[in-house]
Amino acid sequence: MSDSECLFNRVFNEDAITGLQRIPDGSIDLILTDPPYGLGKDYGNDSDKQEAADYLAWTERWIDAALPKLKPTGSLYIFLTWRYSPEIFVMLKQRMTMINEIIWDRRVPSMGGSTRSFSSVHDTIGLFVKSKNYYFDLDAVRIPYDAATKKARSRSIFVGAKWLELGYNPKDLWSVSRLHKEDAERVEHPTQKPLEIIQRMVLASCPENGVVLDPFLGSGTTAIAARRCGRQFVGFELNPEYCAIIEARLQSAEAELQVLNNQPTEPVRAKPVLKKASKVSKVDKRTSKTTPVLTKAKAEGVKTTVRKKSVVALET
Ligand SMILES: C[S@@+](CC[C@H](N)C(=O)[O-])C[C@H]1O[C@@H](n2cnc3c(N)ncnc32)[C@H](O)[C@@H]1O
Repeated sequence: MSDSECLFNRVFNEDAITGLQRIPDGSIDLILTDPPYGLGKDYGNDSDKQEAADYLAWTERWIDAALPKLKPTGSLYIFLTWRYSPEIFVMLKQRMTMINEIIWDRRVPSMGGSTRSFSSVHDTIGLFVKSKNYYFDLDAVRIPYDAATKKARSRSIFVGAKWLELGYNPKDLWSVSRLHKEDAERVEHPTQKPLEIIQRMVLASCPENGVVLDPFLGSGTTAIAARRCGRQFVGFELNPEYCAIIEARLQSAEAELQVLNNQPTEPVRAKPVLKKASKVSKVDKRTSKTTPVLTKAKAEGVKTTVRKKSVVALET
């Protein structure tokens, strides 16, 4: 097993810029990340409470630490808001090629809100690539046409048309509801992103069994999406309580995959292929040695979507 393979499928309870130094250059297929937006959120640390100039300087530092890790075919998705996306997109355009600006419409209902501006109800996502030869699998993320649309296109000129059979391109405006408190997917993290969105990015921009890097894991949505889609992951998170949430979510995801693997037919598009347990590790700053730190007991009380019956123990 190579050094980089030892790092994969692990969550490091560590500062991203420090941890990124251990990831070999050119080993990552996709960087998919949702960094602090600079809006003052409480993540149990001060990471989102920097002044604008400090925030932008720090953003440039982590970008420069992360981009060399990408393969020449690699891509980056970054979640931002209108507040700093102009500055950060310029930084990235100086280093990569911009392919899309995706608007995530969080489907916020109309109720009160701002009185001196229009209520902001979207996040801005940038898709950047390292070279023209970037990996992109549109067929993996096409949206199937409904029966009525297919029927309306039943004239002979449409019969056998690939786009009609495979579905349509998801376009760059994604209307997906944010996760409500009572949503089965929701855990205790203030800015958890929906799996539906992250899985679309993973399927489109990371080959099967490739590696997804998320320097700012939060509740671990990127890691869970990677596992569910048969990809590997590596990532960092400062807050140890969020690391416990990630561990619990990974255990549930692995259990779900085992249940699916034992079924006679294949119910999901991305084949779940990984059997090895994922680990959460703490890094000793002096020796750079990593040790698993989180026990199942610590993760107790974390809401998961898998029924107790189907949860199996994983080694940590
Ligand atoms: C916007 S949240 C990510 C949410 C995530 N996408 C999800 O779905 O749960 C950003 C996370 O980055 C973490 N963070 C902030 N600064 C960090 C740093 N220097 N290194 C590692 N993690 C950091 C925060 O604790 C927070 O949980």
